[in-house]
Amino acid sequence: MSERATEARSANAVQRCIIPECNSAYGIRERIYVCPRCGGPLEIQCRLESCGDANVLRKQWTDRAGSNDPRDRSGVWRYRELLPFDFDVPVVSLFEGKTPLYDAPRSAEYCGLRSLQVKHLGCNPTGSFKDAGMTTAVTHAALLGARTVVCASTGNTAASLAAYAARAGLQCAIVVPQGQVTSAKLAQSMDYGAAVLEIDGNFDDAMRLVQELADDASIYLANSINPFRVEGQKTVAFELLQQCEWKLPDHVVAPGGNMGNSSALAKGFDELRQLGLIDRLPKLHVIQAEGSAPMARMFAEMEKNRVARDGSVMPDIVPVADPKTLATAIKIGSPISWKKSLRGVLRSGGRVLAASEQEIADAKAIIGRDGIGCEPASATTIAGIRKMVVAGNMGRTESVVAVLTGHILKDPDYVNRYHNGTLSLGSSSPMKGAFANPPERVAANKSAILASIERRNHKSGGVPRAKN
Ligand code: F0G
Repeated sequence: MSERATEARSANAVQRCIIPECNSAYGIRERIYVCPRCGGPLEIQCRLESCGDANVLRKQWTDRAGSNDPRDRSGVWRYRELLPFDFDVPVVSLFEGKTPLYDAPRSAEYCGLRSLQVKHLGCNPTGSFKDAGMTTAVTHAALLGARTVVCASTGNTAASLAAYAARAGLQCAIVVPQGQVTSAKLAQSMDYGAAVLEIDGNFDDAMRLVQELADDASIYLANSINPFRVEGQKTVAFELLQQCEWKLPDHVVAPGGNMGNSSALAKGFDELRQLGLIDRLPKLHVIQAEGSAPMARMFAEMEKNRVARDGSVMPDIVPVADPKTLATAIKIGSPISWKKSLRGVLRSGGRVLAASEQEIADAKAIIGRDGIGCEPASATTIAGIRKMVVAGNMGRTESVVAVLTGHILKDPDYVNRYHNGTLSLGSSSPMKGAFANPPERVAANKSAILASIERRNHKSGGVPRAKN
């Protein structure tokens, strides 16, 4: 199929309200973030029948991996047939996506699985998964002629938006909870030239504020409430399946904060199924941090009350007023995209659960022992997988992919405190890390260094094991 045949992608797409009783549709050039009629969440609906033959598409996507066309060098725009943009729009890209899928044998052993793969979205240009969605959102903002792009953030959305806004020559303002964003993330936003606006409040307060700002016609809101963000992020599902040679994993596990990522993964898998490229959905599980887990609580209540798991009944979420966790990226009490996310989880037969601070911290360290660093929020996945294996919700020989969302260098302070035994939440006593590996002061001579190496060899045998 030639690119001309599908050139008018935008003519085949609408923004649609996901509330079944409303179901209203709007043009994709309308600058709206929720349904103007009922206030429900919007999602982009592309006419998939107009995308062409699925097997031809699959081959075309594979062939593009070797191409030097700037759009093919992006792991998002490579899948442009499924994006709501005409092929000739100028894209704002940092060559995002194309992130690795690794085997993680030590993490697998820790979880009680025979094998485990991790998809590391922290290898994106600004160090987090946000880049896959920011390339499409900022491209859309530029198309609409926005002057200023804004977001509320726990740090990564901000760093990513700041970078893409700089590429597009747009003004950028980020609204963040003062004192709750890691210095690495703030440093990125400052360097990319954004106005860094720190408020006295938490992420949920910042989110409310930017939604008010978005009424202003010159402002474009780039949080994942914006369905054009989700469009870019859904391509992670396409790239993952391509890397798995189109063999569907049994389970895909993602961290949950504002719930944009899990919503996007669900949409991506759903579109692949509609196209016939996969014949079922992987079970999509979302893991939150225990002190910031409104959706996990809701899921537990639904299970207890035996609420139908087909998504036909969804009680309202009860926000957590004062969310707490050391995984600051997901310190969110009122997730904006919970409806889309929960719908995706339920449709796939997945689960939502919470992991404790200790579980997250040890899981983060074991991923490190696989030579794959990530930030704390990402490690909720490994903690959640381990719990699901122990509870019998995941079989030892099933295929599992954990989605890691941020780079280890996003929060080095957390890592240092874990290994030095000073990591604690609030006034609680410091955690004892199962895999703590503090530095050792040694005498400045060869024999002292050799003695230390020998001692460690005898102690651990090289493979760390968690106590169950
Ligand atoms: N992991 C990391 C590293 C994150 O930065 C976030 C969210 C999540 C997981 C959760 O993803 O919100 O799509 O469910 N960070 C946002 C931010 C809130 O502002 O950077 P989600």
